[in-house]
Amino acid sequence: MKRIGMLTSGGDCQALNAAMRGVAKALYNGKEQVEIYGFLNGYQGLIYGKYRLLTYADFTGILTKGGTFLGSSRTPFKTIQEPDKDGLDKVAAMKQNYYKLQLDCLVILGGNGTHKTANLLRNEGLNVVTLPKTIDNDLWGTDMTFGFQSAVDIATNAIDCIHTTAASHGRVFIVEVMGHKVGWLTLNAGIAGGADIILIPEIPYDIDKVVEKIRQRHEMGSRFTILAVAEGAISKEDAKLSKKEYKKKLENYTFPSVSYEIAQQILEKSGLEVRVTVPGHTQRGGSPCAYDRVFASRLGTEAGKMIMKGEYGFMVGYKNREIVKVPLEDVAGKLKMVDPNASIIKEAKLLGISFGD
Ligand code: F6P
Repeated sequence: MKRIGMLTSGGDCQALNAAMRGVAKALYNGKEQVEIYGFLNGYQGLIYGKYRLLTYADFTGILTKGGTFLGSSRTPFKTIQEPDKDGLDKVAAMKQNYYKLQLDCLVILGGNGTHKTANLLRNEGLNVVTLPKTIDNDLWGTDMTFGFQSAVDIATNAIDCIHTTAASHGRVFIVEVMGHKVGWLTLNAGIAGGADIILIPEIPYDIDKVVEKIRQRHEMGSRFTILAVAEGAISKEDAKLSKKEYKKKLENYTFPSVSYEIAQQILEKSGLEVRVTVPGHTQRGGSPCAYDRVFASRLGTEAGKMIMKGEYGFMVGYKNREIVKVPLEDVAGKLKMVDPNASIIKEAKLLGISFGD
C-alpha cells in the first residue's frame, strides 16, 4: 500500500487538474494499492492538516477543467520558517501531518516559490516528487512548464483582438502580458500575435528606440503599431539602478504598471494616441489547450511511475523533447530566463520586430 499526499501551491494555471489526474490514474492503474490524500489550498492544507482522502471519482472528468480542484494559495518561502501568528512552527507542522498520515510521498505541483519549500521538505527528510506548473515558464531544469502554452494562446488571442481595432483606428496599442520577472510569455505571444515591438525584462528597452520604430512604421504607411510588453519590462536606465535604488523608485511610482508609463512616454515623445490593454489573470484561466492536456498528463503519469519505483527528490521535467528527472536541489531558487542571444530573438528581429534595444 502506498499513501500519497498531493497539493497545488502558488498561482494557479491551466492543466493542474490534468497533471493530478495523470499521477492518480498511473497510480490507481498500477499494481500497488494506493491511497491519495489531497491537501487543500496548497501548503496551508499541509500546515494546518486540512485534507481529504480522494477517490478515483475525484480524478475523473477533470482533464479539461482549468484551476485546481484542491485549491491553491501563496505561502511565500521567506515566511515558511517563521512561526505563524499563533506561534506554530510551520515546517514542523507539515512534517507532523506527513507522518500522522503515514505518507510515503508528497506530490507537489508548483512554480518557483513552491519548489523552494518542496526542497526544504526534502532536506527535512520527506519524500517529495514535484511537477512544474506556471504560465511564466521560468522554472529551471525544464524546457517547458504546463500552463505556459495555454497562456500563450490566451495572450495571443488578446493581441489578435487588439490588431483589428488598432488597424481600424490607426492607434498605438500596448498589450501587457504576464510572466513575472521573465519574458517567455510575452516573447511567444508577441511573435504569434504579430506584435511590432516586444519588450521583455531580459532585454532592457530604450524608449527612444521604441518611438523610432513606431515612427518608421508610420513613415512606411502603417497606421498602427502593436507593442507586447511584459509586466516585468524594464528600461535601460532602470536596469542600471541597484536593487535598493530601483525599490526606492517604485515607492514613488504613480503608474498602475510599466505599460502605462511607456504609453505616457510615447505620447509625450510622438504625440500619438496610445491605448493599454491588460488581459491579466485571464491568461491563467479557462481550459487547458490541447498541448497542455497532453503535456501535463505525460508529466503526471511519469510522476506516478516514479512513485511506484520509490524514486523521490525529483521534479519531473522536460528537456530536449524527453521527460527527465531533475534533482530538486538543482531546481530550487533558480530562475530560467530568456537568453537575449537565443536564436528566437534573432529570428524575431529578422521578422522586423523591435525589442527596443
Ligand atoms: O506566476 C504566475 C503569475 O500569474 C505571474 O505571471 C504574475 O506576475 C503573478 O502570478 C500574479 O500573481 P497573483 O495571482 O498573486 O496576483
